[in-house]
Amino acid sequence: MDTNTQRLLHTFSALADLGQEIAAAGDFDEMLRTSFHLLLGSLAIRRGAVAEYEREPGSVRFVATRGLGESLSGPLALSTDHAQRLSSLGSSISLADAGKEAQRFLEDHKDAFASVEIDLVLPLVVREELIGLVLLGEKATGEKFTDEDLEVLSALSRHIGVGIRSHRLLDEIGHKADENLRLYEGLRAIYKETVRAFAAAIDIKDRYTQGHSVRVGKYSEIIAREMGWPDEEVEGITIAGYLHDIGKLIVDLSVLNSPGRFNAKEQKEMNRHPYAGYEILSPISHPYADIPLMARYHHERMDGNGYPDGLKGDQIPPGAKIVTLADSFDAMTTDRPYRKKLPLEDVLADFRVNTGTQFDPEVVCAFCRAFLKEIEGSKERRLLNLLNRNYSNMERLSPMLSQMLSEFDGGGDTRAASAAGN
Ligand SMILES: [Fe+2]
Repeated sequence: MDTNTQRLLHTFSALADLGQEIAAAGDFDEMLRTSFHLLLGSLAIRRGAVAEYEREPGSVRFVATRGLGESLSGPLALSTDHAQRLSSLGSSISLADAGKEAQRFLEDHKDAFASVEIDLVLPLVVREELIGLVLLGEKATGEKFTDEDLEVLSALSRHIGVGIRSHRLLDEIGHKADENLRLYEGLRAIYKETVRAFAAAIDIKDRYTQGHSVRVGKYSEIIAREMGWPDEEVEGITIAGYLHDIGKLIVDLSVLNSPGRFNAKEQKEMNRHPYAGYEILSPISHPYADIPLMARYHHERMDGNGYPDGLKGDQIPPGAKIVTLADSFDAMTTDRPYRKKLPLEDVLADFRVNTGTQFDPEVVCAFCRAFLKEIEGSKERRLLNLLNRNYSNMERLSPMLSQMLSEFDGGGDTRAASAAGN
């Protein structure tokens, strides 16, 4: 094999290695150093550096050096004009082309280069933009760089330039993505605040259920979290809880604030609110899935005897099942015009009897688990704090909650399990 063929093979192998280094998703600086050492190795050059050009503040910064000691550590100024002239030379360099501009760069910084000998300056140009510079000392053999050498160096430099540019683009995309995320988070916060304000407005209209919507949102959140829902969906169900009764805004005020139990006509008027809520919420594009459906189906029952659509079991969206339980829990634990709040034993007894027919056993279990954990002190007191002003001495509920968990956990035939438990 003649020398030229050998050199060609060596260049190809360096190029292949370089391609691999640049494609590898590892540490960028390390990639750059390895690529640069491959470049030096291809022509047995002992010293040199790669510098990255930064348009702002108009300087080159050394990112990989070899054999130059400490003398070239700081950034060196490079004006926009000079950078433009260097970039106009293109990435295929001939010594004659690059010589004048490169010489000027070395001249401009003769103090910095005083103790190091740089024989060659190669601009790294990608898409007519100066990305950086490769500075090289002489070959170990002391021979001059030939045109062929320059072609090899130019090919390898091009790879390094593309690597630096790709890295910059990825960085920019990362910054943009961060910025978008911040904007998105901001919008979400505004959305949540608006929804909370809306929930308060719903509750003001219904003077007997002050704070109901916000509490249902919080109970729903506690249950969904206990069920292991991801954060995003937990946020969604909280919002759904806040908005579940939004349809009450169109219910006749005299019905809504009627002091006694509803007559048939009033009940019919009242029962319009889930579907009305769905209609109000559907045209809005929410940042979470299924909010309108959770409002529509929060009065459905597992046995199909609910309203407005009489859905059964799995036909009911999981979120609506959670809101149903949270809604019932808050209704039973607060005073209503026709009755006082119920003792917690009675509330749990109601859940126990109606699990499988009205309530989903999985949701009941999650609720019992969260409740029990808070009583035992292994979980932050959220449910208990929401109830505190109404109830005390909740430790007494632990056996009942444990009993319900052993009856309903596993999600089998819950009615049979419930009957067996009774
Ligand atoms: Fe409701």
